[in-house]
Amino acid sequence: MSLWCPKIPPTSSEFFAWKECGPSDQAQMYYDIIEASCESISFRASKASLPPKLSYQRNFYELHIYFRQGETWGSFRSAVNPVMMQPKTVRLYYQKMSQVNKEFIKRIRDIRDGESYEVPASFEEEINRWTLESVSVVALDKQLGLISENRDNSKAKKLFNSLTQFLRLTAELEMKPSLWRWVATPNYKKLIRTLDDIQEVTIGYVNEALDRLESQPSDKPEHEKSVLEKLLKIDRRVATVMAMDMLMAGVDTTSTTFTGVLLCLAKNPDKQAKLREEVLRILPQKDSEFTEASMKQVSYLWACIKEALRLYPLASGNARVTKSDTVLSGYRVPKETPILMLSHGLHTDDKHYPRGSEFLPERWLRQSKEANAAGGAECPHSLKASSPFVYLPFGFGSRMCVGKRIVEMELELGIARLIRNFHVEFNYPTKNAFKSLLINVPNIPLKFKFTDVEQ
Ligand code: HEM
Repeated sequence: MSLWCPKIPPTSSEFFAWKECGPSDQAQMYYDIIEASCESISFRASKASLPPKLSYQRNFYELHIYFRQGETWGSFRSAVNPVMMQPKTVRLYYQKMSQVNKEFIKRIRDIRDGESYEVPASFEEEINRWTLESVSVVALDKQLGLISENRDNSKAKKLFNSLTQFLRLTAELEMKPSLWRWVATPNYKKLIRTLDDIQEVTIGYVNEALDRLESQPSDKPEHEKSVLEKLLKIDRRVATVMAMDMLMAGVDTTSTTFTGVLLCLAKNPDKQAKLREEVLRILPQKDSEFTEASMKQVSYLWACIKEALRLYPLASGNARVTKSDTVLSGYRVPKETPILMLSHGLHTDDKHYPRGSEFLPERWLRQSKEANAAGGAECPHSLKASSPFVYLPFGFGSRMCVGKRIVEMELELGIARLIRNFHVEFNYPTKNAFKSLLINVPNIPLKFKFTDVEQ
């Protein structure tokens, strides 16, 4: 690859990949960036390039995996990947997640209005409780009881509030002009207090869990040990950081995606009915249990989740930083340039996704018969993406989401149980359903209507 190139990006500090080429070249540009990452792009999230001027901030950002760089990030990921990214690990949690989901279903029945069957506008908090409860089953090896018996737990409430504050303040400081990089502004001080709270609560939870496991070591065979037990075997520090990061990264992310899937299914009753047919095959009774075999037969469920993530992505794109001078799609990009690949607009562009504004889970199915049925007379291939690099909801390469396996399981089991129990409607507009706080979060009251499935 030649480093001489006549085109120089207009700004030397940041390279906005979506601006530097016409829309038709964007997928190619993203492909080049991802390809180049093997040799010339460091696996560094651009958020990590926040200048850590104050020592507290430096300590925080150096601790958490999301913000680590280079060798400290690489050695940590190599240690946790075999535990976190192993597809078989998740089957250990089917029963435990099922319990969480049954409590969630009961909670919906308890709080929905007796006549309209709508849940209150505060349903977003219930979703956050469900996601924190679900991720705790993996991160802490136990349920916290946030959906039912332990609802008033003050530590958990502090964690919800701090996570929301963290997103709001980070967006405020990062996206608006401010002096915080040089002096501690009031918002900066609030952010530090919020980080303190997150740290205090998550460390508290994780220490309790690790003390419990160390004092009662299990004699289970290795493949039956929980994620936390396996992480603890690497060492206590790795287990602490990974569990804290699961709690920090595992609430708003899953809540946003879950909300997006429910909105799509509510607004597309034909697709919801089709999904229910699939779910009825694996859960003949409302309280049937999931098995490894049944979870291999949920291709439409996974297609619905992928399609919802296309229409309502968690983030507007992905970020990388060049490790050395490089050339991308004909542009010379200097070393250490943050690259932003904003793909949100492409997701609904008909050029990249035929009938891009429609919710068509069929475009993700392999079976051409089913896809054909959904596309009517159209060839199923005509619904496919122009390039796999337009849409990378969990990122790509060695820096991809480390919670992907866990969240896939949470969403599959949670949505299957919900669709098995309820017909879901949303009788309000969905325009501006999400707002961006660096990641997208719900922006409207989530007054879903849940009516019981009779069978
Ligand atoms: C549907 C929900 C989620 C989505 C869409 C999502 C998406 C992402 C994306 C796009 C990245 C950056 C990847 C890259 O730069 O290539 C990421 C990183 C990360 N995610 Fe997720 N995520 C989700 C849920 C979770 C959950 C539940 C956890 C924890 C259990 C988690 C933990 C993390 C961590 C720790 C990182 C940083 C990884 C690193 O820097 O090595 N995520 N996620």
